Amino acid sequence: MATASFFVFWSFLFVNLLQFQSYDFIFNGFNKAPNMTLNGASLVTRSGALRLTNSSANLIGRAFYTSPIRLFNTQSRRPKLSSFSTTFVFAIVKPYEGSGGGGHGLVFTLSPSKQPRRSWFAQYFGLLGPTNNGNSSNHVFAIEFDTVYDMALFGDINDNHVGIDVNSFRSVASAPASYYLNGTNKKEMRLESGLPIQAWIDYNGENEVVNVSISPLSVPKPSHPLLSHKMNLSHVLQESMYLGFSSSTGKLASFHYILGWSFSMNGVAPPLDLHRIPSFPGSQSGSSGLGKKAITIGAVSSAVTLLLLAIVISTFVYMLRRAKQAEVLEDWELDCPHRFRYKDLYVATKGFKEIHILGSGGFGCVYKGVLPNTKEEVAIKRVSHNSKQGVKEFVAEIASLGRLRHRHLVHLQGWCKRNADLLLVYDYMPNGSLDTFLFDEEKDLVLNWPQRFKILQGIASALLYLHEEWEQVVVHRDVKANNVLLDADMNGRLGDFGLAKLYEHGKNPSTTHVVGTVGYIAPELSRTGKATASSDVFAYGALLLEVTCGRRPIDPNAPSGLLLLLDWVRECRQRGQILEAVDPKMEDLYEKEEVEMVLILGLLCSQSTPEARPTIRQVTRYLSGNDKLAKTDVPMEFTDTGSENFGFRSFPSSFGVISTGSLTGGR
Ligand SMILES: *[C@@H]1O[C@H](CO)[C@@H](O)[C@H](O)[C@H]1NC(C)=O
Ligand SMILES: *[C@@H]1O[C@H](CO)[C@@H](O)[C@H](O)[C@H]1NC(C)=O
Ligand SMILES: *[C@@H]1O[C@H](CO)[C@@H](O)[C@H](O)[C@H]1NC(C)=O
Ligand SMILES: *[C@@H]1O[C@H](CO)[C@@H](O)[C@H](O)[C@H]1NC(C)=O
Ligand SMILES: *[C@@H]1O[C@H](CO)[C@@H](O)[C@H](O)[C@H]1NC(C)=O
Ligand SMILES: *[C@@H]1O[C@H](CO)[C@@H](O)[C@H](O)[C@H]1NC(C)=O
Repeated sequence: MATASFFVFWSFLFVNLLQFQSYDFIFNGFNKAPNMTLNGASLVTRSGALRLTNSSANLIGRAFYTSPIRLFNTQSRRPKLSSFSTTFVFAIVKPYEGSGGGGHGLVFTLSPSKQPRRSWFAQYFGLLGPTNNGNSSNHVFAIEFDTVYDMALFGDINDNHVGIDVNSFRSVASAPASYYLNGTNKKEMRLESGLPIQAWIDYNGENEVVNVSISPLSVPKPSHPLLSHKMNLSHVLQESMYLGFSSSTGKLASFHYILGWSFSMNGVAPPLDLHRIPSFPGSQSGSSGLGKKAITIGAVSSAVTLLLLAIVISTFVYMLRRAKQAEVLEDWELDCPHRFRYKDLYVATKGFKEIHILGSGGFGCVYKGVLPNTKEEVAIKRVSHNSKQGVKEFVAEIASLGRLRHRHLVHLQGWCKRNADLLLVYDYMPNGSLDTFLFDEEKDLVLNWPQRFKILQGIASALLYLHEEWEQVVVHRDVKANNVLLDADMNGRLGDFGLAKLYEHGKNPSTTHVVGTVGYIAPELSRTGKATASSDVFAYGALLLEVTCGRRPIDPNAPSGLLLLLDWVRECRQRGQILEAVDPKMEDLYEKEEVEMVLILGLLCSQSTPEARPTIRQVTRYLSGNDKLAKTDVPMEFTDTGSENFGFRSFPSSFGVISTGSLTGGR
């Protein structure tokens, strides 16, 4: 009996200790906040604002309350989830006022980890990634404040919404950013306004309802929540969870700030002292946005003058824009199919604004656009071509290239010519180029071997289609990691086919102009200047090695003598240690025989004589396992040196056009 009451006493005390452990906290600004753990791009500014990201591309910034919290009340026999309540002030500032949309917003989350593995930037907010989005083993609860419209992947409603997420960014409930004035009237607001916004998130453990509200700082907590969703979080949350914020940028970027935060378990989140909220760069009048009335009144009188001025200016701008968008057509253009109107592309990219640039490469800039009529997302490549020669032939060719259809090709939807610029419209590829996955240190996601192998197989099948399966032989001429784009399901798709040819047309035939990218150019190509299916295979061989080894074909940072990846793989093989060349980031998690086969196939394709290389059909048979690659078929020793093999020393500067290959053309 005595033991029993002793036990009851202690467990009572223990439970109370748990309950009374300080799970209430408040941060009015984040200066001297030792209890916050920051990682990625996040930092605390001098004024005390917590900045999760700056406006650079592809960043992740997170900030979590350092110690985990236990949300389950263990007092009852069956652990029961406690109620919780939190409020915080955030601000999202676009890099330039008036620029198009920034990205990608931020989330408040309860997560099992402060540094979630396999997480991605861009639409994944640095919290989940394409390999685990939707997996119930994530145990992630989040409220998203999302500024990018991603219909295809997550079924987003618009580019300015609040959503409740469980293990997936396909929200269980979402609503356009707005707040209730009373029971019926809602007022819209823009998350990216650059103004501070307060958010409230309440979970009632008894009736299992999550409420979410937002409002401008000058408006108190709305009487009706924007989102109120019944859900049993007991299935989602784990015993011990981290509380905090995560944000990311992709090709689109904004500054994301958290300015104050409070939390309470089994209570109401303590109110923030809004007068102590820190200022942040880009904040209007450097203050919290309270007391703006005086400014408003003063502004009214000048507004009248400004209005008149504005009318004059906007008429002028309108006429200028009309002129900018007007079509300037040559006769032949009307006859070529797949032509887009310049005006539509101009509108799609909001006037080719810099903010819409996805990347740039040897041939020009790539913009992201949304076609005004269909609302379809596209990638628009702007190729500057200072000679008018060749363009007509090229456009004629597009008429036929536009008919190319393959699962692993980026579809070329059409074209448009504008003075010296050629605009090519492609399907938009949400995951950008393979290149960044292999070499971008900022990416949290490491492609595993099955993903890499699948991408390589896809590209081989695309080349097979171009070389053998279509009605005429199409030589790609610029196979490289930068031209391999990844669709929403991480399938590899080959882009930019035929584009290189534009630069070969109309050139003086007596000089050799090699088009391609150093490191992928077959030796005979640099001698004859004639691209063939076999020179594509050579470039594909370089891609095999590049993807497997996680190094560029020419790597100035490599140990001496191993400038060329090809040399290095050969050297490893001669030492009987070919797997030493494999990308260490894969951490030995691969099937050794398969990887070895791919490396040897890479060497086989990289032979200096075209006749010695396999056809792409043969390559696909090796990759699919239909044919077995006998190691003895690939000689250990090569007579030529690798460097010459790449046409690297013998053609120092006589290349006509060489794309540098390191720039992304992500679509
Ligand atoms: C942070 O932790 C310290 C000691 O660990 C505590 O005294 C302080 O109140 C905590 N502050 C917040 C805001 O939680
Ligand atoms: C943004 O932050 C990242 C990571 O902290 C840094 O590398 C980059 O230089 C910053 N960009 C700008 C424009 O400050
Ligand atoms: C979910 O994640 C677990 C653990 O990472 C993994 O074993 C499982 O295969 C995943 N399920 C799906 C459907 O991807
Ligand atoms: C909400 O406010 C609007 C105008 O402010 C008013 O017309 C409407 O009757 C109000 N509704 C309720 C339920 O109070
Ligand atoms: C959530 O919102 C509903 C509807 O307005 C309200 O009845 C309920 O009390 C709210 N719950 C919490 C925990 O705030
Ligand atoms: C919610 O889930 C918990 C744990 O599985 C369970 O005990 C509880 O009964 C569930 N609540 C409802 C309303 O289904």
